[in-house]
Amino acid sequence: MGIVYKDVTVISNDEIAKGIFKLVVKDENEIKCGQFYMLKVKNALLPRPISICEKEDDKLTFLYAVVGTGTEEISKIKESDEIKITGPLGNGFNVNEKLGRVALVSGGIGTAPMLQVAKELREKNNASNIDLYAGFRDDVYLINDFEKYVDNINITTNTGKHGKKGFVTEVLNPRDYDVVLCCGPEVMMKKVVEMCKECGTKIFVSMEKHMACGVGACLVCTCKTKDGHKRTCKDGPVFDGNYVEL
Ligand SMILES: Cc1cc2nc3c(=O)[nH]c(=O)nc-3n(C[C@H](O)[C@H](O)[C@H](O)COP(=O)(O)OP(=O)(O)OC[C@H]3O[C@@H](n4cnc5c(N)ncnc54)[C@H](O)[C@@H]3O)c2cc1C
Ligand code: FES
Repeated sequence: MGIVYKDVTVISNDEIAKGIFKLVVKDENEIKCGQFYMLKVKNALLPRPISICEKEDDKLTFLYAVVGTGTEEISKIKESDEIKITGPLGNGFNVNEKLGRVALVSGGIGTAPMLQVAKELREKNNASNIDLYAGFRDDVYLINDFEKYVDNINITTNTGKHGKKGFVTEVLNPRDYDVVLCCGPEVMMKKVVEMCKECGTKIFVSMEKHMACGVGACLVCTCKTKDGHKRTCKDGPVFDGNYVEL
């Protein structure tokens, strides 16, 4: 398939909440918010897709949840080790035009890519208002990092440990926004899309599918759209919520 992986140096790889790790590597590539990289460690057969959480000069940050063997292997990497990566991949969120009032809506680890989205929106001055709606099960992470980029932060947890008890969709009113940008579990994104459709608010979602190649060659990652199946890695991962079928 001719996919070129390069070795990059790990600056840090720390557990910031239970089972949630922040990996910072050195990479000079230009990126767009909502894009992802494929990360490969030596004992894992397949690389794993992880979104860009933040890019600052040549520091590239990923936030990942340990859910299986691949992410478990990544969590064992230490400072100064090398890891193989390829990217940035995928289309990313379009924040290059005036978007008006923007709601960033995320669930769990789906909050990770929203940090770079908030940062680019703020830097490009393309939103009149940026509000974050982030839902978690119990523990909350990354939220403080958003403070410098967004106007309001709304947290929900299933347990009520932080913020309001319940789902993020219970505190979001899409009528208050021109555009909603969303990343999280499919069931949550489906609900957000339905809510946006009802009031005509634009909605873009970042799809999460199992991936193998990450560059459009293997067709493992397809999702249904109005035009048939599309590759999440190459045609997405960001799709118009009115176009993709959730
Ligand atoms: C474009 C994209 C961006 C992503 N960004 C991030 C990120 O920023 N941070 C992060 O933590 N994760 C992210 N993911 C998900 C991450 O790639 C998976 O959690 C990881 O590949 C799991 O690998 P594993 O070997 O640890 O687990 P596996 O052993 O492969 O799987 C463990 C469990 O998780 C399930 N699972 C694995 N991958 C997926 C998936 N893609 N969708 C639904 N269920 C899955 C499996 O069915 C299994 O039950 C992203 C995925 C995509 C497609
Ligand atoms: S992961 Fe191979 S086509 Fe998307």
